[in-house]
Amino acid sequence: MAYLFCVPYANYAMLVVTFLITTTSFMVALAGNLDQDVGITWGDGRGKILNNGQLLTLSLDRVSGSGFQSNNQYLYAKIDMQIKLVPGNSAGTVTAYYLRSEGSSWDEIDFEFLGNLSGDPYIVHTNVYTQGKGDREQQFYLWFDPTTDFHTYSFLWNPAHVVFYIDGRPIREFKNLESEGVPYPKNQPMKLYSSLWNADDWATRGGLVKTDWTQAPFTASFRNFKAHGCVWSNGVSSCNSNSSSNNAWLSQQLDSTNQKRLKWVQKNYMIYNYCNDLKRFPQGLPLECTVRTK
Ligand SMILES: *[C@@H]1O[C@H](CO)[C@@H](O)[C@H](O)[C@H]1NC(C)=O
Ligand SMILES: *[C@@H]1O[C@H](CO)[C@@H](O)[C@H](O)[C@H]1NC(C)=O
Repeated sequence: MAYLFCVPYANYAMLVVTFLITTTSFMVALAGNLDQDVGITWGDGRGKILNNGQLLTLSLDRVSGSGFQSNNQYLYAKIDMQIKLVPGNSAGTVTAYYLRSEGSSWDEIDFEFLGNLSGDPYIVHTNVYTQGKGDREQQFYLWFDPTTDFHTYSFLWNPAHVVFYIDGRPIREFKNLESEGVPYPKNQPMKLYSSLWNADDWATRGGLVKTDWTQAPFTASFRNFKAHGCVWSNGVSSCNSNSSSNNAWLSQQLDSTNQKRLKWVQKNYMIYNYCNDLKRFPQGLPLECTVRTK
């Protein structure tokens, strides 16, 4: 059954077939093809889909960065992608990987990977925007070198919460506290976006370390895009039908093991939490920081 998780939701109809014909060859066929799942949207050739849709690379040089986006938009999803970040001296570069809706009061769920000098740690910067308002940053160091291997970065976005995961380990949870008056992303469909760009005015040590263009082009690699999602199309969600789909993620909670893992990351690797930044919010911390939940 484990291979079920390899099957993108969009291929659900096919799943029923594979379910009956449980062969691994089908799994490969359905493991996702980046050519079908995403499109390179900018960068004038600096973004590339390679190896028959199994690998995507984004690059950045002095002239431009590059980016891609998912073809589908989702209203709730569990999205995984493996990423290998820019190696070596990546100071000044930012690899962004995020979900975002359109319009001026958009919702957005962000991972941003802030590069660094060789041997110095990347920062994983996260944020959540609801109705156009963010200011909810949390930042982390990693417990591994994100440039030597691919690691899985995931979003779980369901009606109860947004959870950021790295290699299956939750690092951040944003709960639905609508009942307490905190806006929650729930009615604007989002696409997945990713880009590699120059942000040396702020990214590394707050902008002190600039991009070393003699190292360009900088390249980040992506593979294994997996989306279990409610695909939103013409105002209709694919989850509104009663097909017996594998929708466990839609009601997935953090069990006690995962709550412990989340605490472990937050205790040992969190370097900034807006909820602890009293100086920044002299009028009082944002509501979601002060609401006590069980
Ligand atoms: C880069 O390395 C410095 C020195 O270790 C560290 O203070 C900083 O948090 C690291 N990351 C970024 C993105 O600046
Ligand atoms: C799905 O099934 C439930 C329970 O059987 C039913 O109440 C609901 O109306 C169904 N929804 C749709 C969209 O068919």
